[in-house]
Amino acid sequence: MNSTNTALNNTLVITIDGPTASGKGTITRLIAQRLGWHILDSGALYRLVALAAQKHQIALDDIASLQPLAAHLDVEFVAAEGAEEMVVLLEGEDVTLELRKETTGNGASKVAALPVVRGALLERQRAFAQSPGLVADGRDMGTVVFPSAVIKIFLTASAEERARRRYNQLKDKGLGVTMRGLLEEIAERDERDMNRSASPLVPAEDAVELDTSALSIEQVVDHLWQLCQVRLN
Ligand code: DC
Repeated sequence: MNSTNTALNNTLVITIDGPTASGKGTITRLIAQRLGWHILDSGALYRLVALAAQKHQIALDDIASLQPLAAHLDVEFVAAEGAEEMVVLLEGEDVTLELRKETTGNGASKVAALPVVRGALLERQRAFAQSPGLVADGRDMGTVVFPSAVIKIFLTASAEERARRRYNQLKDKGLGVTMRGLLEEIAERDERDMNRSASPLVPAEDAVELDTSALSIEQVVDHLWQLCQVRLN
């Protein structure tokens, strides 16, 4: 065990990492619901930094201003009755819809490449590890934030399949996008997330990798659930 483990007060953590639109969010929510555990959507924190920067007119490469912004992010996640997703308040303002826009995701990918921003968000992410357990979704959950997680999953899917899923997701929310634009944005984000020097998107050595291109959500959840039966008992 390293010092990170003791900092996490032995709470059980499952990490679900993978590229954009690989299904992490949905799978995380379904597994957390079955287990009755907490959720960390770490991408939302990077998205919130990008939104806060926009709100305060801070450039996405202004390291000196982004560090304190990320460290003191005034954010609240509120469970809304009957809704699947949490309502997200940034400085008291409802940014739930804004948060999911592709432009926000792109800004998030830019600020996420900065080590000062990643460092500023590290302890905030670890604080989500509360009893009875946490399912954490992101890019570096298994490699950096929760290296001693009991189960580490790395989800992948082809860029085309991910673009198709994201297209349906955004369309359902009434946000206008085109498949071609999405494919380009996904390729650009993959490139940035995988090739940055700070906590790049790579599977942890002990992660179980799962290509979900040809799998339904139920099949992925079943697979993971079997893993939970083995590792959590
Ligand atoms: O999962 P998402 O699309 O909401 O994430 C938005 C961006 O944030 C993504 O392009 C990369 C970045 N990110 C990250 O670098 N590390 C994480 N743990 C989560 C997200």
